[in-house]
Amino acid sequence: MMSESRLQGVSAEEMAEFFLDMIRQILAVDEDKFYRGRLEQGIGLSIYERRLAEFFVERLAGRRVLHAGIGFGPLIALLAANGFEVAGVERDKRRMQGAERLMQAISQRWPLAKGRYRLFFGTYPDVVDSDWFGEDIVLLLTNVVSGWSRELEDKVIATFSRFGAVIFFARLFGHIRETAEEQKELLARIQSMAPGRLEPLPTVPVNAPYLLLPERGSGAGAHATTTE
Ligand SMILES: C[S@@+](CC[C@H](N)C(=O)[O-])C[C@H]1O[C@@H](n2cnc3c(N)ncnc32)[C@H](O)[C@@H]1O
Repeated sequence: MMSESRLQGVSAEEMAEFFLDMIRQILAVDEDKFYRGRLEQGIGLSIYERRLAEFFVERLAGRRVLHAGIGFGPLIALLAANGFEVAGVERDKRRMQGAERLMQAISQRWPLAKGRYRLFFGTYPDVVDSDWFGEDIVLLLTNVVSGWSRELEDKVIATFSRFGAVIFFARLFGHIRETAEEQKELLARIQSMAPGRLEPLPTVPVNAPYLLLPERGSGAGAHATTTE
């Protein structure tokens, strides 16, 4: 298992504390059930956010990161504070306001992030500028359980080939897929619409995390190997 010490800049612990304080401030203005739950459980950064950040630092350093469905955006905050150029997409107005507050606070606290941290308000992929598609970019989807239609799922999958790499959770993509059959169907659809090398990620297996290196992005993804 990877350790947090592999985050060379800002540690997950430091960011988790910073983010819990930000959640407190944001919830004082606007209530949010999901983040209230995290605050009450003291989860500044979830296990998968910590593991993914380590994976990015170790294997995907230098890439830009586009995170679709960021919520308040703690994971891109951690990546930005560790030197990544990041962008987040969020379609819920209140969550976006929280994400904006977090972005401002991060840029003040860790000036390295300033000017390297963008937000797009609206539904992925419609609202993302064309310069945020490309082979130097990793598309990241964590928990995006949000009642997507089949049409939106396919629209999102159709963008995968435009990136050097894509990280997603087969269990939490658009809606919850608990069974192996449901996850298999999703993976088959992804492989037919966005062919490439698909690997399970060595991080929080319960969410069925995967790394896809799309065929046309295979050059850019060549050193994005996993330990499995
Ligand atoms: C359950 S929250 C989780 C936030 C974060 N991904 C995480 O893992 O902690 C999912 C968020 O994704 C957003 N979302 C879902 N589908 C989206 C889309 N297509 N474009 C932008 N935001 C989306 C929702 O508004 C919601 O804030």
